Amino acid sequence: GSSELAGVAALLKAGKARNVVVMVGAGISTSAGIPDFRSPKTGLYANLSRLKLPYAEAVFDIGYFRRRPEAFYTLADELYPGKFRPTVFHSFLALLERKGVLRRVFTQNIDTLEHLAGVPEDKIVWAHGSFAANHCIDCGTEMATATLKAIMDAGKIPHCARCKGLVKPDIVFFGENLPARFFELAPVDTRAADLVIVAGTSLQVHPFADLPNQVSCPRVLFNLERVGDFGRRKTDVTVLADCDTAVRELATLCGWTAELEAMWAKTAMEETKGEAEGEAEG
Ligand code: OAD
Repeated sequence: GSSELAGVAALLKAGKARNVVVMVGAGISTSAGIPDFRSPKTGLYANLSRLKLPYAEAVFDIGYFRRRPEAFYTLADELYPGKFRPTVFHSFLALLERKGVLRRVFTQNIDTLEHLAGVPEDKIVWAHGSFAANHCIDCGTEMATATLKAIMDAGKIPHCARCKGLVKPDIVFFGENLPARFFELAPVDTRAADLVIVAGTSLQVHPFADLPNQVSCPRVLFNLERVGDFGRRKTDVTVLADCDTAVRELATLCGWTAELEAMWAKTAMEETKGEAEGEAEG
């Protein structure tokens, strides 16, 4: 609740939280208009009946992709980044960076809104990969994103120019390894963390879901529902609320409201700018 958030704000204001590690999932982007995965009515997995999947997660399963790549490619168009504006929560991450206290953001999301909000690449770990590059799932040959997009836009499935294997964006599917950077930075950052913020994730998917267990500092949860083992530690702060609302409250307690809102307002202008650029290119 509020009094606990005041404690978190005090840590930030007193300079006692200088290595903030943030661990996030799809729930931080729902207010941008991107559905999460597991929310009962609105989540992506509840709305995939048109794909006739054996089970919802199959759409991101590497074995299923080999047999029926159309399922993923039907969705890929909708999931493709570039259409959405960062949320207030994303801007709060950029604000932590500006204050010099952000150590890392571990994100399971592939919408790149963290970066669009102003968090630099070196502060982000894309734990479930991204659409930034694409590779053949058999021989590993890269396919340029412009090439892949053109094939997708023509309603076709991309195949490798070298071996005819299936090509897929480098987002991590079930049955695939997470990027090496995740395994390099997770142990170091969880040890160095002096405040952890977990937000918008059901903590159902491993190994990401283990991250909050690996820290010994205070942990804050901003999520609509209780997840993981939050509440078990005396120092846990659990805020069961919309994460935009929650960080606005935290920012107010820190005296950062005007700065946060100004940063968020700027993302609207960036978005308009991006659209104008896109039109000029296309
Ligand atoms: P989930 O859909 O599993 O969980 C989203 C969580 O965010 C849920 O607990 C929601 O209650 C919460 N939530 C939704 N809107 C919120 C809001 N406005 N404020 C606060 N909380 C909110 O999404 P993830 O945990 O990200 O992986 O899912 C993890 C992975 O499963 C994804 O990266 C994806 C998926 O399959 C792969 O595809 C490999």
